[in-house]
Amino acid sequence: MCGIIGYIGKRQAKKVLLDSLAKLEYRGYDSAGIAVLNKESHVVITKSIGKVANLEVMCTDADATEEIEDAGCGIGHTRWATHGGVTNTNAHPHQQGRIVLIHNGIIENFRELIVKFHLENQLVSETDTEVAAAIFNYYYEQTNNPEETIQKTIHELQGTFAFGILFADHKDCVYAIRNVSPIVVMHGEGESVLASDIMALAPFGNRYFVLPEYHILKMKKDTVSLMDLQGNMCEPDYLTIDWDVNQADKQGYPFFMEKEIMEQPDAMRRTILPRIKEGMIDLTVDGIPDSLFEGMDHICVIGCGTAMHAGLVAKHLIQQGLKIPVDVIIASEFIYEEPLITDKTLVIAISQSGETIDTLAAVRLAAKYTKRVLAIVNVVGSTITRESNYVMYTNAGTEIAVASTKAYTVQLCALYLLFGKLATIKKCYNYAKQREFVLQICDIIKDVEKILQDKETIHRLTQKLVQAKDTFYIGRGLDHSLILEGSLKLKEVSYIHAEAYSAGELKHGTIALITEETPVIAVMTQKKVKAKTKSNAMEVRARGASVLLLVAGELEDEADWDTVYHLPEREDIFMTFSTSVTMQLIAYYTALDKGLDVDKPRNLAKVVTVE
Ligand code: F6R
Repeated sequence: MCGIIGYIGKRQAKKVLLDSLAKLEYRGYDSAGIAVLNKESHVVITKSIGKVANLEVMCTDADATEEIEDAGCGIGHTRWATHGGVTNTNAHPHQQGRIVLIHNGIIENFRELIVKFHLENQLVSETDTEVAAAIFNYYYEQTNNPEETIQKTIHELQGTFAFGILFADHKDCVYAIRNVSPIVVMHGEGESVLASDIMALAPFGNRYFVLPEYHILKMKKDTVSLMDLQGNMCEPDYLTIDWDVNQADKQGYPFFMEKEIMEQPDAMRRTILPRIKEGMIDLTVDGIPDSLFEGMDHICVIGCGTAMHAGLVAKHLIQQGLKIPVDVIIASEFIYEEPLITDKTLVIAISQSGETIDTLAAVRLAAKYTKRVLAIVNVVGSTITRESNYVMYTNAGTEIAVASTKAYTVQLCALYLLFGKLATIKKCYNYAKQREFVLQICDIIKDVEKILQDKETIHRLTQKLVQAKDTFYIGRGLDHSLILEGSLKLKEVSYIHAEAYSAGELKHGTIALITEETPVIAVMTQKKVKAKTKSNAMEVRARGASVLLLVAGELEDEADWDTVYHLPEREDIFMTFSTSVTMQLIAYYTALDKGLDVDKPRNLAKVVTVE
């Protein structure tokens, strides 16, 4: 996690760095800091714990302003703490001698390096980054040459890193190098800028390149150059941003999370409609040939958190509907298992950011066994898309709130399209059945719209939750996959302990936790198991729990229940969308009514780039 930015050029560095850090803040908000090289070649570092707004206040302080006002070169960092607590000293940038460093990633061998370079008395922070800064400084003292210093230092480091580096006596340059953790670069007239994410580059143009791993970037006002570690100069591979990165505006909503929930119908249209041709699912727009599925005998879905939950829905659809074995494996577990992957396995990697390090590592491992690695990703050009054989982009647009909502919904859309396509290829669906499927998948957008129009009713359902410390979500079958995501949403934004439990499993122990103080949300959208889940809901009600039922279809004994919410009724497999959007709203309103910072929940970051 952590966001980094580097700038050199005609604008005021302080302003560029602060504005960009605000855009990168979703990557971590434990502390923020900037370092600028002013015209007298003085390094001025300003840092503050907490959010970028705190840093801005410090930087507008009259004394601070005077010193850094004229600087056109600097680096900035927003931190998600890994090594060392949330303190000013641990905040980046870190300075050792003539080196000023910002870092996204983890230096795994930092303890060994402290011993090897005798740094014990030299470090002031608890961070691995300062160790790296000290080693850069060690080699700079020997070589006085930035490129040689970087080459030598990088050979010492194990782990992941995206470094932005200032050499205090080179006030006309910003250097960078990376391994795994991302850096994108833009160069325009009289300015150059690097960042962890293209969103921060939006004010500077639309042509950018991804810094290749283990290449030294040297940015000047009028040039950028790339050199590999053997000293060969390389040409950057420029890309164009072809989607709107200027969505970073709440447009009147109090939080991005609400805005993003409300954007879902449009996002769904953008994901579904380009893949429908003459009433049939067509993945040629993604360059996915039918041959990808020929001879495939197994599907393995990898992802983390919400993305992994989307995979569970796909498992339910594909395994039950098409009888193809599907494993859903948490990416961080996948890389330490002996994955059962052959060249006949289709690996589906799901990720909003396309940068989650565990998912990336899993993709790299999977790619050793099969050429059928398909990424379902939102962020265009992200690392996972570049390392997969095929990509289906989910066109959600920028998702800023840390809690994923629209990105999940469009992941589901992509997976449903894949299911529909597979059903046809495997001859489980004839022409008429596929057309019917396509009509349904387009029609569910209306269900989502209905839910969104009814958001105030859903808001009222959350009254009991706001007071709760613990809560349970129960459901069976497909509903169980959905409540895993519903409960994650509630946990992360409202800090209420929320457990998703298979409804039938509760009585085997966990029901001991149910009291009058434990509200239960029972999800009943699947006809086959509706009666069974209802019995389980009655069991918790009998133990004093207040129960909120989210239900599809009639409920004969409705009057006996505390609270019932009727979801728009549809064939079972299509109940997913309205149900999950309802649970997103439940989580959102609960957090809102608790007065929390919904978009930036504590301890979290939007992009998880540490293992
Ligand atoms: C929860 C959430 C996370 C992410 C997870 C994977 O709301 O957003 O659980 O889903 O960190 O991130 P991506 O999808 O970027 O790989």
